[in-house]
Amino acid sequence: MKNHLSMNRRAWLKKSLLTTTGAIAAPYLGFSNRNYTHLKFDQYGNIVHGSNFKEFTFSDKVNYPVLQAKLNANENPYGPSPMALSAFNSNVSQSNRYAWDELFELTEEIAEFEGVQPENIVLGPGSSDLLEKTAICYFMDGGNVISADPAYMSLIKVAQEAGAEWKSVPLKKDWSHDLEAMKKAVDSDTKLIYICNPNNPTGTITDSAELVNFCREMSKKTTVFIDEAYLWFLEDGAKQSMVSLVNEGCDVIIARTFSKIHGLAGLRIGYAVANTKSIEKIQRITRAGMGISLPSVYAAKSALKDVAFIEKSRSLNFKARAYTYETLIDAGFNPVESHTSFMIFPIDMEGKEFLNKMRMNSVAVRAFEFMDKTWCRVSIGTLSEMELFSKSVKDVLTKKA
Ligand SMILES: Cc1ncc(COP(=O)(O)O)c(C=O)c1O
Repeated sequence: MKNHLSMNRRAWLKKSLLTTTGAIAAPYLGFSNRNYTHLKFDQYGNIVHGSNFKEFTFSDKVNYPVLQAKLNANENPYGPSPMALSAFNSNVSQSNRYAWDELFELTEEIAEFEGVQPENIVLGPGSSDLLEKTAICYFMDGGNVISADPAYMSLIKVAQEAGAEWKSVPLKKDWSHDLEAMKKAVDSDTKLIYICNPNNPTGTITDSAELVNFCREMSKKTTVFIDEAYLWFLEDGAKQSMVSLVNEGCDVIIARTFSKIHGLAGLRIGYAVANTKSIEKIQRITRAGMGISLPSVYAAKSALKDVAFIEKSRSLNFKARAYTYETLIDAGFNPVESHTSFMIFPIDMEGKEFLNKMRMNSVAVRAFEFMDKTWCRVSIGTLSEMELFSKSVKDVLTKKA
């Protein structure tokens, strides 16, 4: 009976994760049953985003060895931030209370940090929640959403489910957003342009000066949503942020998360910065961060101040990323220079087979198909995890027979 119940719960959980986070959760869960969701699957259970954009899933009917390097979700391998952890632990005993005052304090502290007013901030249990709720608010009456191809699909998947058309614009050869082509794609039905900078799954950036001009011009016609989940990994991330455009009165929404450089992915805290009109629109279906638990609110307040941990994460990520890049080059691969906590490179093997073989070597990564190639996306873990990854990838891809 217990087993039966837990199986049902697992199936339900998988279903709801897929429904809400779209493709993003699927391969992570080793999920391949295409009857469960609205997502489009090919005959092998891989997720089809567009005519030339696919995500491979690994087979979940195999007994894999225990994972030694979990490099498939861009998590911080050094976290959580110690200050956040201590704040969480010190406040867990207050968990019988709602966090109303604390949520407001966190909102004020984030506003101060970002140089905007508290009315310009909306909190959410992870930025995914805000991406998806924005999609619902903006597309419940249809319209179209423009983004790069490939892009992070969370907002787009929910927009499509709400009835939107996705207008995808291929990235340029230098991997930046094709801002001119995106401008041309705007029409009278465009409700939102989604820009992920740095972009996921490619790890590449678009020039911030060009992006500022683009946002200034395009936000007169439609809302521009900039997802800055990985901006903290840049040395001068604060300078490259689009947040200051909110104070200029532009119709932009900037999403940020505590899941990456702060190491709090499991606590689920994110926020968006925008003009009050957009914040009010999103607040119609969110309750100002009510989805965030009280200890998590305390953790976020401290994580914001844990500069030492942020700097440590950035510099260790930089070192392990450089090691990964050089090792891949030495082994004859062709990685794309990354500005984030993950990296892609083309592989000469079918994606599902590759994922399964890596998983057999105790390493979990992601695999995609776009721009007519199959790609491995590896999250940057600790140096020893990256050593294991490099050894495995050479094993799997050079000893194919
Ligand atoms: C580009 C991007 N945006 C948003 C998110 C969502 O992060 P969270 O919901 O943990 O804040 C992710 C997670 O991987 C991401 O890669």
